[in-house]
Amino acid sequence: MTEAPSSIIYIAPNAGSSDSGLAALRDMAEVNVVDRNTTLSALNGSAVQLASQHDMVVLRTDNVDESDIAAIKALRAEIPAHTAILALTQADTPLAIARFLTLAGVDDVLPDSLSGSELQDQVRKWLQRPLLMTAPMRPERGKIISVSKSRGGIGGTTVAVNLADQLRQSHAKGQPKPSVALVDLDIQFGNIASFLEVETSEILYDFAISGHMPTPAIIQEWAKAGPGGLSVCAAPSRMVPFDALNRDQIARFLNLLADQFDYVVLDLPHVVVDWLGAVLEASDMMLMVSDTSVPSIRQARRLIDTFAEEAMTLPIEMVVNFEKRPMVLRSHHKAAAKVLERPLSHWLPSDPKTAREAIDRGVPVSQVAGRAGLTKGIQRLAKDVRATLSTTQKQTTARQSA
Ligand SMILES: Nc1ncnc2c1ncn2[C@@H]1O[C@H](COP(=O)(O)OP(=O)(O)OP(=O)(O)O)[C@@H](O)[C@H]1O
Ligand SMILES: [Mg+2]
Repeated sequence: MTEAPSSIIYIAPNAGSSDSGLAALRDMAEVNVVDRNTTLSALNGSAVQLASQHDMVVLRTDNVDESDIAAIKALRAEIPAHTAILALTQADTPLAIARFLTLAGVDDVLPDSLSGSELQDQVRKWLQRPLLMTAPMRPERGKIISVSKSRGGIGGTTVAVNLADQLRQSHAKGQPKPSVALVDLDIQFGNIASFLEVETSEILYDFAISGHMPTPAIIQEWAKAGPGGLSVCAAPSRMVPFDALNRDQIARFLNLLADQFDYVVLDLPHVVVDWLGAVLEASDMMLMVSDTSVPSIRQARRLIDTFAEEAMTLPIEMVVNFEKRPMVLRSHHKAAAKVLERPLSHWLPSDPKTAREAIDRGVPVSQVAGRAGLTKGIQRLAKDVRATLSTTQKQTTARQSA
């Protein structure tokens, strides 16, 4: 059986017989090449239509300017995610330009110093990608759990980090470990990188500054291997204004993350910012970390009310930190639950020794003391979170089949 040839559109300002890149593509028996002697920005809207008819777009990007970057961005937003865009550029192109191209949506930037056969190898690799992307696709979207908090320093990051760890470690017998992404959305003060000794990442900074939309490849670049097989998407080292990211960008990030991971745990900042709307919309559940003091509970209530305006059906469960679950609720606990109009569902005891040692060693608490009070509390939390998520799953399925 012979496969239908793949189709590539080659866009270059001076595409012609002397173009070695074009010649190398034309030498590939399994490929049909269409060339356009122009720039991408000159093609404008018609580029999208043209590109949609092909399996791959190859661009010559010498001397790129802002309009080319804008054109790539528009193209990436419109054509299918599996249609690769490759940029062929002068070998001495500054790294910063290559980075701009990637952020705009180019899948790979290739130097024109590649030999014809090296270029052909790269093109083959990207042409095979749709098969690789569709084959292991997970049957359903991953679950997104947001971790918010009633005040700074109350343990939001501790809960996010260790919940992510437990979701990965405790899995059904005989089943593979689920993939878990731990994502630091506290873009100004995020410290997951130091909690787990991974490097900070400038991805959110770059997207905040450029306004570009993320691509699947960016998630792979962002997610770094952390302890226990967690995938850690760290916050930037440089300060970004919270509102520099926009709602569409965050919505796309979360969609891509849920496409690629079974669980996505988000450490949220203690601010109310427009893109939180996208977080609330995408989340399957939220944990609100608090203590039971009157100011913290009032603050939690205010936040819950604000969130509920955007996402009425989002389950929001309370996590009381620094306090062991009492045998019998005391009067101020009952008063807190009343103010919150929800139970104090989860409790994590104060366990400074375990919490401190975990941070010092850059690992989750499960790797420091498997039997410590805090570790056991987190294990119970992960079990309950899975239970809540399975009921929300049933409700969604019931709604869909109704
Ligand atoms: N249950 C606990 N027992 C003892 N120490 C804890 C507990 N939970 C958190 N801590 C400690 O409290 C400090 C603050 O925790 P964490 O950084 O998780 O809070 P946060 O809400 O994310 O703070 P920030 O507002 O800075 O983001 C850390 O030193 C952490 O180790
Ligand atoms: Mg924090």
